[in-house]
Amino acid sequence: MKKLTLTCAFALAALGAAHAQPLGDVVAGQEVYEYECAACHMIGEGAEHTIGPHLNYLYDRKAGAHSDFDYSRSLQRQGADGLVWTFATLDAYINNPRALVSGTTMGYGGLRDDGERANLVAFLREYSHMPQNIPESSPTARQNLPEISDDVLAIDGDAEYGEFLASECAACHSRTGRDDGIPGIVGWPEEHFVVAMHAYRQELRPHEVMQMIAKRLGDEEIAALAAYYGQLSRGD
Ligand code: HEC
Ligand code: HEC
Repeated sequence: MKKLTLTCAFALAALGAAHAQPLGDVVAGQEVYEYECAACHMIGEGAEHTIGPHLNYLYDRKAGAHSDFDYSRSLQRQGADGLVWTFATLDAYINNPRALVSGTTMGYGGLRDDGERANLVAFLREYSHMPQNIPESSPTARQNLPEISDDVLAIDGDAEYGEFLASECAACHSRTGRDDGIPGIVGWPEEHFVVAMHAYRQELRPHEVMQMIAKRLGDEEIAALAAYYGQLSRGD
């Protein structure tokens, strides 16, 4: 039943329904925040960076933007590519931090409950510059992205086929997993790899060349590449 309602909500969003989805509950969101985030992040007046950066003025701001916080290279790279915090990108990052930012140093496994995330994201919005100016209907007010069905995650990739496909990737990505400006993609758990490629395909990750490449690949091909790169080890 719950699944049905969700599917309807997505269908409506896809049709560009005029109704903005309701925002989550700010008060309930504060509770989620205290429980899940406060150990590492401060928010509100006088907030400072602690283990994580303070979370004031997040909305519509580039990811990794505080020059006085030591972000991971991965988050800095996404910010340089144009990752901006919105309902959709925050929702995705909180849902599964590595889907959006593979090498993030945020030691947090993710919050899978859609309702809790909606409340949390509404709470965070209260601390943005001018919440009243952030359109509620701002694209995909809520979406559990990247959307990947269990069937797709379950595909058993063919590493040999992946090796063949990887010739296209080798122009940019080193086979040894070296990161010389372009990140290494060797030896990842296959699921991380698949989720990252889908995040490009669904344009959650902003890098345009990778978006184009991921859109040309089918689910089987992504699984094959994940299997091939997953079995390589760094320095091979
Ligand atoms: C165990 C500590 C920890 C927990 C728990 C945690 N974070 Fe983080 N968070 C971090 C760290 C460290 C970073 C910097 C990540 C990087 O540089 O890759 C970060 C980064 C972020 C950013 C990016 C900020 C920016 O300036 O671009 C957001 C947004 C964020 N966290 C939100 C949350 C929310 C919301 C929660 C609760 C659901 C949460 N975090 C839980 C440690 C944590
Ligand atoms: C024209 C150069 C180029 C080609 C070809 C290319 N990539 Fe990329 N790839 C990049 C760049 C640049 C990034 C970093 C993008 C970013 O910041 O999101 C990247 C990022 C990635 C990431 C995420 C890495 C991370 O740490 O977040 C994966 C996974 C990936 N590429 C897989 C592939 C695969 C698989 C292929 C071949 C089908 C491929 N790429 C082909 C340039 C390329």
